[in-house]
Amino acid sequence: MLRFSRNGRRVNYGPSMDAKTEELRAAHDVLAEFYADRLADALDRMPVDRAVLDLFCDLVRAADLGTGVGDIGCGTGRFEPYLAARGLSPRGIDLSPEMIRLARRDHPNFGFEVADVRELPLADASLAGVVCWYSLIYLAPSDRSTAFSELARVVKPGGYLVTAFKVGDGQVRRGGRGANLGVEFDVYWLSPEELEQCAVDAGFATVFRGGRPAEDGEGSPQGYLLARRS
Ligand SMILES: C[S@@+](CC[C@H](N)C(=O)[O-])C[C@H]1O[C@@H](n2cnc3c(N)ncnc32)[C@H](O)[C@@H]1O
Repeated sequence: MLRFSRNGRRVNYGPSMDAKTEELRAAHDVLAEFYADRLADALDRMPVDRAVLDLFCDLVRAADLGTGVGDIGCGTGRFEPYLAARGLSPRGIDLSPEMIRLARRDHPNFGFEVADVRELPLADASLAGVVCWYSLIYLAPSDRSTAFSELARVVKPGGYLVTAFKVGDGQVRRGGRGANLGVEFDVYWLSPEELEQCAVDAGFATVFRGGRPAEDGEGSPQGYLLARRS
């Protein structure tokens, strides 16, 4: 069982955190300032990302299930102001305590918490939607059904899931080296069909699946999945 503090400063995960998760968490602690610098205004240059997020926001508002949404794997919280400006009430969750510390520093008007998508500290059917922007690409194949079941558990029927991911052959790769900060971790460039099947198996129905070619330095095409909780 993973253990998280509620203050996001020092976290005792307990003795059973697996080595891959610990590697991922520690790496993202190191990467947090890099992400905060590099990604703060990245959405301004990403019209496809904005269009997919805007569709998610429009659909969540139209569903009339409330405005509460989870930004799962929120990093340093760059999406919170964007989602709030479109009528939603986001809260951020991330595995990395340092990401959460910076999210609280940079976006003090929003709630953030350290937790794992595979064990969300959220009540059943408590959210109108979840955003998982490049945060499901670290899950080993054996963990995906647990994560999608958690996402399905916390989203109200009729609510929405949106995720962005790197598209590829589904084989494990080592990521993180490009930042030159001495950290690396497992990452998966995913098959859109397999990812969609994970969502469908958990109780989501596809609304939109799309993608775009790689842009400078991205290394892979990008994929997007928007799905409705049945
Ligand atoms: C590429 S970053 C994206 C951050 C943010 N979604 C954004 O677009 O700016 C991926 C984030 O997912 C988080 N993450 C990875 N695995 C996670 C898990 N199992 N549970 C929660 N967060 C996770 C990482 O700590 C990292 O902050």
